Amino acid sequence: SFVASVRDSAVPTTTPHRQPRTVGISGAGSAGAALAFANTPDTDAAVAESRRWAAELVTRDVPVPPTAPMSTVEDVDAAIARATAVAPAWAATSPHDRAQVLRLAADKLEQARGDLVATMIAEPGKTVTEADPEVSEAVDFARYYADQAELLADGAIPGAQFRPHGVTVVTPPWNFPVAIPVGSMLSALAAGSPVLVKPAKLTPRCTQVAVAAIHGAMDELGVSRDVLQVVLSPQGEARRRLVTHPDVTRVVLTGSIETAAMFSALRTDLEVFAETSGKNALIVTPSADVDLAVADAVKSAFGHAGQKCSALSLLILVGSAGRSDRLRRQLADAVSSLRVGPATDLATTVGPLTEPATGKLLRALTTLEPGEEWLVEPRRLDDVGLLWTPGIKHGVAPGSFFHTTEVFGPVLGVMRVETLAEAIDLQNAVAFGLTGGIHSLDEDEIATWLDRVEVGNAYVNRHITGAIVRRQPFGGWKASSVGPGAKAGGPNYVAELGRWSDAPEVP
Ligand code: SER
Repeated sequence: SFVASVRDSAVPTTTPHRQPRTVGISGAGSAGAALAFANTPDTDAAVAESRRWAAELVTRDVPVPPTAPMSTVEDVDAAIARATAVAPAWAATSPHDRAQVLRLAADKLEQARGDLVATMIAEPGKTVTEADPEVSEAVDFARYYADQAELLADGAIPGAQFRPHGVTVVTPPWNFPVAIPVGSMLSALAAGSPVLVKPAKLTPRCTQVAVAAIHGAMDELGVSRDVLQVVLSPQGEARRRLVTHPDVTRVVLTGSIETAAMFSALRTDLEVFAETSGKNALIVTPSADVDLAVADAVKSAFGHAGQKCSALSLLILVGSAGRSDRLRRQLADAVSSLRVGPATDLATTVGPLTEPATGKLLRALTTLEPGEEWLVEPRRLDDVGLLWTPGIKHGVAPGSFFHTTEVFGPVLGVMRVETLAEAIDLQNAVAFGLTGGIHSLDEDEIATWLDRVEVGNAYVNRHITGAIVRRQPFGGWKASSVGPGAKAGGPNYVAELGRWSDAPEVP
């Protein structure tokens, strides 16, 4: 049946879009951390193991690796000049040799797991169970992109171009401060481009520790560190320079749609690869396994306190799934049993926000819009607004603030409809199209949903966060992506980064 099967390849879709959708089905994310390409250690044994060794790490003081701060316009220009000087040699390096750098970087990142986990606990406040698989994801990216570089070089991907160009600037987010920068940096390096990375303002150490591991591999293999440089905290004109300098040909951004638009407006000839926001929904039909649906909803909505572009924000209950109070009662019980606290307490299941709640998130945590009621009311546990117990509001109205706005925090909204068709309409009635899910044991319902849902990553009877490299290439539709829409951890990502702007898109 659908439920027991594991089908995780990208499938064609009838909804036209630049890239095919990824479909993940229950079973494809639960293999355990020990396996390659399995960055979600959601088996109890793997979680227990992580907690055991992490106990020693939380108090570790990870030294900041030596990185000269480069914050003036002159610093940035000098970094770009160094990158431009090594670009021809790096592009001329055989893709097989570049792949060796990535493979050794994977080993070094694995060896740095303790430092990376400790830094993710200390800096953005990730729990061990979120930080540990993030290191695995970074390692998976390194090995996968090494394989991709070699396949491309060997001509094994039909239609793919593989001609490196220019300097790539990588601007990662603070919510995945290791896996996302590592994936972005290494894919561009695999494609033959030198890289400048500007760590997120809130998480510079995480990215520096990861870069130090990659530099370790480059040093051993005799590759100049000018191929991968860190630019810390540039402001104003220095920051703009990273985008406006003519030798920078591409920016790989994970951030807001506004930032992506600003970059594109600054320079029309700049290639912008951006993963942006999401407003992600999970539909539960009357045929669903309620226990599974509740567990997956809680994991998807409140992992890293909801601070993921992929996080679940709307639970749409169809027919009797919404009329009976069983599901809502189970959901409320499950959420009330989560343990909220500092990430340094290893028993914490929901850690702090990385920044105190303000703006849209504060509104979502503290305000009911017309028609809404608290199923579980969030509570602030500290003075500054970093620690909140998760909240669930039901009665979210179609077209309302909470239906359409990404809030990026620990609040879940519940909507009720009579039919699957109405549920899909609500799921699609947002600007973004990143992740989405359905819980159903009815094959016709699943087929209808897969045909109509407008998201890049569609999950069936599975949580909707934690895409696994290679199995579930990650990337959005609609306003969730800017650029060619190639999926991170998927077969066309290195190819797209190695493509000249005038070459045809990689199929
Ligand atoms: N790749 C992450 C996920 O799938 C989000 O960046 O949750």
